[in-house]
Amino acid sequence: MQNKKIKVLFAAFEASPFIKTGGLGDVAGSLPIYLKKDGVDIRVIMPLFSSISNEYRDKMTKICDFYVPLAWRNMYCGIYKLIYKNTIFYFLDNEYYFKRDKAYGFFDDGERIAFYSKAIIESILHLNFSPNIMHLNDWHTALSAVFLREMYREVDKCNNIKTVFTIHNIKFQGMFSKYVLDDITGLKGNFAAESQLMQSGAINYMRGALNYADRITTVSPTYAKEICTPFFSEGLEDVLCRRKNILSGILNGIDYEKYNPYKDNEVYVNLKPITKNITKEKDINEITKEELIEDKIKRITTFKSNNKMCLQADLGLDVDPNICMISLISRLTDQKGLDLITYILEEMLQYKIQFVILGLGDKKYEDAFNKFANQYKNKVSANIFFDESLSKKIYASSDLIMVPSLFEPCGLSQMIAMRYATLPIVREIGGLKDSVNSYNKYTNIGNGFSFVNYNAHELLFTIQNALSLYYDKKEIFNNLSMQAFDTNFNFEESAKEYIKLYSQLMEV
Ligand code: GLC
Repeated sequence: MQNKKIKVLFAAFEASPFIKTGGLGDVAGSLPIYLKKDGVDIRVIMPLFSSISNEYRDKMTKICDFYVPLAWRNMYCGIYKLIYKNTIFYFLDNEYYFKRDKAYGFFDDGERIAFYSKAIIESILHLNFSPNIMHLNDWHTALSAVFLREMYREVDKCNNIKTVFTIHNIKFQGMFSKYVLDDITGLKGNFAAESQLMQSGAINYMRGALNYADRITTVSPTYAKEICTPFFSEGLEDVLCRRKNILSGILNGIDYEKYNPYKDNEVYVNLKPITKNITKEKDINEITKEELIEDKIKRITTFKSNNKMCLQADLGLDVDPNICMISLISRLTDQKGLDLITYILEEMLQYKIQFVILGLGDKKYEDAFNKFANQYKNKVSANIFFDESLSKKIYASSDLIMVPSLFEPCGLSQMIAMRYATLPIVREIGGLKDSVNSYNKYTNIGNGFSFVNYNAHELLFTIQNALSLYYDKKEIFNNLSMQAFDTNFNFEESAKEYIKLYSQLMEV
């Protein structure tokens, strides 16, 4: 089996840098590139949104076009190809569905996404590529698993394809009225499909994939367990418990080239490589472990305080490298635990800290953060927008970052933060639990701080604990920052796990 080439069609509705609304975009824009490097023939397939910039469009070439049947409709679909970082990306063109100013949130999402899911499979018939695995991500691709088995079972190029369905966030499932099943999917009268798709009188796209996929994965081992329980499963625990034996969690990673403190152009000051005069005076093997650690901590603290002072000046905060900077870089939604933060913010701001926010989302949170920024002008900076370059400056400059989510399938910001030696404060759930090892005061081991219950004062006490180390036991705090920096979240590791999964699936 080893020599049978793994060929994967990787479907995601968004992929960075072409279009990104959340973590799915980050993962779909980097995991395939790591898999390709490891020898997998992987190709990404996504919509050709009108917002994709000309920088990429100009380099695309058209491969073919055809029509996609959707019940009584026959809808045009063109395929464009672009090679990005040595990996093939296919873009599905249909202006009626994808010439919109954003990816989601339209009255006809049920139809747009059914079109995309069907077009993925129709593409296989027209491409000079025969995947043995179709890797589907989130509810936007879920119907592909259903269509593949129910409508393309007899088609040569399709009947041996295995499907992997990855849940990035179970909160979003794609539930629509039964009309969508009857009028759009073309599955009307197919009672087997109907019974696997219906839930409480509505059609649920994700439920379909969970019933039809050959393997189900999610983005952390802890979330894989959590979603089999009623609180986290959002109504899907029955099917997940039933299919537990094919469900697993693979922790996401991050793109170590994109986030590289040594080389980033976006941070003010880069992290310096190992100090020259240690290596000049001695052979690298003669340097003691203690000397290396001391040098590393010194380089990290210099990197952070130099960045911090530049950012403080840019954001209009007091310029002082010795004030603890706490940040929040997040979509501003309920999921992210923002109710906890707004509840304790007034109390938190009585400490000697600066608080920097970056992100967009629900108006109630945007308003709350703006209000605090007005009230505490030199302490709080609310940046209610998203800007990748500013995010890197904040990661590089902060001492602590908060991710106190209500639920968190994986979470990427705690990992990015650690790459810039920033300590995360997280709630012990999902991928946060799997990536953050809370500070242990007896061993001094840890790469962050965590708390268990969804309780605002538990968060506040955890912040106080971190602040007391920052101000009174700086050596320990700096050592923790180094441990965070040393934790490996390179996507390479997750890619290996996916390859194992693909290989197992091909043996079945
Ligand atoms: C979703 C989840 C987030 C995860 C990301 C990528 O955005 O909410 O936890 O990190 O997908 O898998």
